[in-house]
Amino acid sequence: MKKIFETVSLGNLTIKNRLVRSATMEVGGAKDGCITPALGDIYEELSVGGVGLIITGMMGVAPNSCVNSGMTKIYAPEFSDAFAKIAERVHEHGSKIVVQLGHCGVKSRELDGADVAFGPSSIPDRTPPVREITKEEIADLVKAYGAAALKCKEAGADGVQIHAAHGYLLSEFLSPIYNKRTDEYGGEGRAKILFEVYDEIRRQVGADYPILVKINGDDIAPGGVSEEEFTKNCEELARRGIDAIEVSCGIAIDKTSNSTQGSRQDEAYNAPMANRLAQKINTAIISVGGYRSIEKIEEVLNGGNIAAISMCRALIREPGLPKRWEAGDRKKAACVACSRCFASSKHGCYLLLNSAAEK
Ligand SMILES: Cc1cc2nc3c(=O)[nH]c(=O)nc-3n(C[C@H](O)[C@H](O)[C@H](O)COP(=O)(O)O)c2cc1C
Repeated sequence: MKKIFETVSLGNLTIKNRLVRSATMEVGGAKDGCITPALGDIYEELSVGGVGLIITGMMGVAPNSCVNSGMTKIYAPEFSDAFAKIAERVHEHGSKIVVQLGHCGVKSRELDGADVAFGPSSIPDRTPPVREITKEEIADLVKAYGAAALKCKEAGADGVQIHAAHGYLLSEFLSPIYNKRTDEYGGEGRAKILFEVYDEIRRQVGADYPILVKINGDDIAPGGVSEEEFTKNCEELARRGIDAIEVSCGIAIDKTSNSTQGSRQDEAYNAPMANRLAQKINTAIISVGGYRSIEKIEEVLNGGNIAAISMCRALIREPGLPKRWEAGDRKKAACVACSRCFASSKHGCYLLLNSAAEK
């Protein structure tokens, strides 16, 4: 029987318990993309709170990759020194930290010089116009992912996670909704860029460094990625040596297709997909989406081959939740899944991020 509070290995990444902070963009932690001490405060609070692994909010790998000015830029010159201090603070309390490598594709709004954002095809999100990325730009971007991962490794991150979910660039490539290309990066080759990104990162960081991926099993939009294609792509990533796969959903092309589908009653909404994948491959699978109760987490961990559970909103509201549960207080998480993390001060969540931003 698996326990929540026991050591677990996600490929080459060993963590002290099976609870993961799923990537959460901490808008308050960076100013114009440069890390402020506030980001370290947020992560230190989470590590004091007992979570085994913190996956950072998505961080931009290259110019024109960020959704807004609060998203950390790995390519900023100050990144390495600032991140190294954060990694130290997290490690002091026994948690591990993995950087999520992001490119927002057609959702990029923070353009450092470019006229328009690009995606696999010129299919806009909510803010047109956008243009199709060229093959030369794809080649440069693949290298940029590798360079960003190496920078994270050198700055003390315990691994990197490739963000290939939620309708950002790599997820756009994987989705037939956004990817209408007729060259080798479209059609049957929709996942080609993801495999190239993985291979380039692996080449730059070496064989033993943990590389994780977050990927949609369902775009929650008509015409989105099929479960069959998602499974095939994960099998290929497993074959290439990915350390762990976090199974998520939602392409955010409109208000109904976002990744925060859970309501109070709807815990573990991605678990069935994650379980089906876990039956097919031996790679560590992380299940995210709606987790609020210790009973549901124990049930999912022991109902299939899921290695770890990740949470976002519950830990925005209550960074100390893992420690509380470990101490024997099994009360449900205080988060009510209102999904107004950035917009409402009612529960204190928004204030948490904002007060950090003011430091
Ligand atoms: C405020 C906020 C910021 C988020 N930022 C990211 C992010 O940077 N990268 C990512 O992969 N997912 C992000 N997500 C999605 C979460 O990681 C997670 O997949 C989703 O919220 C479902 O999990 P939960 O029910 O535990 O919140 C974000 C979600 C919220 C609410």
